[in-house]
Amino acid sequence: MPTIAVTRTIPEVGLRLLGAAGEVRLWPDERPPTPSELAEFIHGCDGVLTMITDAITPELLDREPQLRVVSNFAVGYDNINVAAATARGVAVCNTPGVLTEATADAAFALLMAMARRIPEGIEYVKAGEWRYWLPMLLLGQDINGATIGIIGFGRIGQAVARRARGFGMRILYHSRTRRPEAERELGATFASLDELLREANFVTLHLPATPESRHLIGAREFGLMRRDAILINTARGAVVDTDAVVAALREGQIGGAALDVTDPEPLPAGHPLPDLPNAIVVPHTATSTVAVRNKMSEMASRNIVAVLRGEAPAAIVNPEVLAGR
Ligand code: GLV
Repeated sequence: MPTIAVTRTIPEVGLRLLGAAGEVRLWPDERPPTPSELAEFIHGCDGVLTMITDAITPELLDREPQLRVVSNFAVGYDNINVAAATARGVAVCNTPGVLTEATADAAFALLMAMARRIPEGIEYVKAGEWRYWLPMLLLGQDINGATIGIIGFGRIGQAVARRARGFGMRILYHSRTRRPEAERELGATFASLDELLREANFVTLHLPATPESRHLIGAREFGLMRRDAILINTARGAVVDTDAVVAALREGQIGGAALDVTDPEPLPAGHPLPDLPNAIVVPHTATSTVAVRNKMSEMASRNIVAVLRGEAPAAIVNPEVLAGR
């Protein structure tokens, strides 16, 4: 009977699947394990179901030669040293597909909330300030007819483009790979990063955190953006230079930032970003719907069960390890 460690309570559907395939060891706290607690917790396990907050390092893997699979409860897997896992024959799995539409919805929700100043309106009413209808009250920005700049044009970036199309927006995108088919289907135009930054009313990020994408948006990039531009980040905090976004918002270099992800995450108590009037920060909840978290739980668990049975999982980041078995 294999042993499977699960580093946080996940929706029941996944725990049931894992329970039928092995002995489940469930981290009992809401608080994530510290690195040393994680090392102790996964010791001797055949499979681990991890969260994005669990760093899977070469040192950790070296202590667990029996480990066969690390399955992330996320599409992003920058918390896992994939090269080290591959070198040790450990499969790394993730949950692409099931969270695409929810993440695109969340990016659009942030875009609309910021453009139409929804959080400010809520605060205004709660503070008892709503006394009159005023022609100049809380003037926001048009979404229809505006230009959206989508950086990263994979599954989620394209799902955002579909929504933008419905809103009558002009769509620019930038990515490493040009996507002629998606360009035709979605009416999107490829642009260089600088061109996109200069033109877009809304800049939205949909690329993974890698050494290349770290601080892709920093002081230089804010300098190129329109003074009324709104930045939306539902990707990873590290893609944006946090100090630079605080400075750009304070100096009015851009119009606003709506962030589902930050660097560090969570922001330390007293960090200036959430209190800036032109910022919205939400706690990394872009995939957080009942249906999607159930699907992520099921997929991450099925991935583990498949690898432990010697079958191909639905999503594997390093398929070469299976070929070697
Ligand atoms: C969430 O952040 C994910 O990568 O799925």
